[in-house]
Amino acid sequence: MRLAVLASGGGSNLQAILDAIASRTLDATVALVMTDRSEAGALNRAASAGIPTSVIPPRNYPTTSAFASAMLTALTAHEVDFVALAGYMHYIPPSVVRNYQNRMLNVHPSLLPAFGGAGFYGMRVHRAALAYGVRWSGATVHLVDDQFDNGPIVLQEPVRVEPDDTPETLAARVLTVEHRLFPEALRLFAQDRVQIDKRQVTIRPA
Ligand code: GRF
Repeated sequence: MRLAVLASGGGSNLQAILDAIASRTLDATVALVMTDRSEAGALNRAASAGIPTSVIPPRNYPTTSAFASAMLTALTAHEVDFVALAGYMHYIPPSVVRNYQNRMLNVHPSLLPAFGGAGFYGMRVHRAALAYGVRWSGATVHLVDDQFDNGPIVLQEPVRVEPDDTPETLAARVLTVEHRLFPEALRLFAQDRVQIDKRQVTIRPA
């Protein structure tokens, strides 16, 4: 599995993937770290690990199709066959999604379909979950389709909401779960154990 990890932020999920590879729980190579923001902390983590990086800010491109072809050029140049969206905050153009159909995963910090879709990103997700008063939140790893946070669900794990939780404390506990769940989902694909039939994802035992 030659992975591209796309990240806009600190890149702790990227780090979790790198750690899983280093400890041999995940048989994959991170061939490329791509970001839409030159300030993304993920770039430092990639540099420390000696991984090629590609900064592709959407505003540098006159059209979505020019942005998409810049992404596809970089992905192809690094012979990427699987894409992990690890805190990537920008919309992925449909042509890129199509090119990696059933080979692109996203991690989302809630139990989808709750608190997902356009506008639900970063701390907004946790603020909305607390404002709603849910007793459980969690993390979801799902396949990416042409709508935000919508593709078939691969793995989910609940996280209990504590009475004194703030968006920050809840986010921190959910993030710990993401760090386990995302490499685990990638491992299932690396081992070719995932079968997808419309929305239904079946995982074959090892
Ligand atoms: C994670 O909570 C992820 O679910 C969300 O953005 C956050 C990224 O964190 N989409 P990091 O950059 O991996 O530390």
